[in-house]
Amino acid sequence: MLSVAVLISGTGSNLRALLDAAADPDYPARIVVVGADREADGLAHAEEFGIPSFTVPWRAHDSREAWGAELDEQLRVWEPDLVVLSGLMRLLPPSVVAAWAPRIINTHPAFLPEFPGAHGVRDALAAGVSQTGASVIVVDDGVDTGPILAQERIPVLPGDTEHVLHDRIKPVERRLLIDVVRRIATGEIDLAAARTTAPS
Ligand code: GRF
Repeated sequence: MLSVAVLISGTGSNLRALLDAAADPDYPARIVVVGADREADGLAHAEEFGIPSFTVPWRAHDSREAWGAELDEQLRVWEPDLVVLSGLMRLLPPSVVAAWAPRIINTHPAFLPEFPGAHGVRDALAAGVSQTGASVIVVDDGVDTGPILAQERIPVLPGDTEHVLHDRIKPVERRLLIDVVRRIATGEIDLAAARTTAPS
């Protein structure tokens, strides 16, 4: 059984989907802890499932390194096999990436390498593209630059707002995330190999 820590900042709808999936005894991963950089609404999902949670407030720290050191310390209490960034709106400092790589993955609401960064949905709309997408990647020191584990195209429709488009992307992100975590747990995806070789 793969043990998973999930880090969030927001509503945690992707976390919720993973919690629902992991409630199935046949699913080969379990969420052992949920962490956040603020009092995120999504922490309520962890509580509902009886999963421990922690908050490492960004604002309480002087630097990214100091925040990251405390985050790392909290994660080490649980020693998860995998860390999932599911809407964590902070860049991890290189020391934390180095400590957990390649066992950290991230979901992103665009078809990477297109539209990396915090505003992937807004940037796709602003660019006027006819399709965007969703991706799950391995985290490296860049901004959404790590090896791509899974991705899927999603159309941009006339009249889409950022909110409407993001709501169309999120269900795909959830499905990809649940599938990637399952494939990591079964060994179908080898993260150590994904770090150095091109994704399939
Ligand atoms: C997701 O689209 C994630 O990729 C992005 O923020 C969103 C998080 O949504 N970075 P939620 O908190 O899981 O509802």
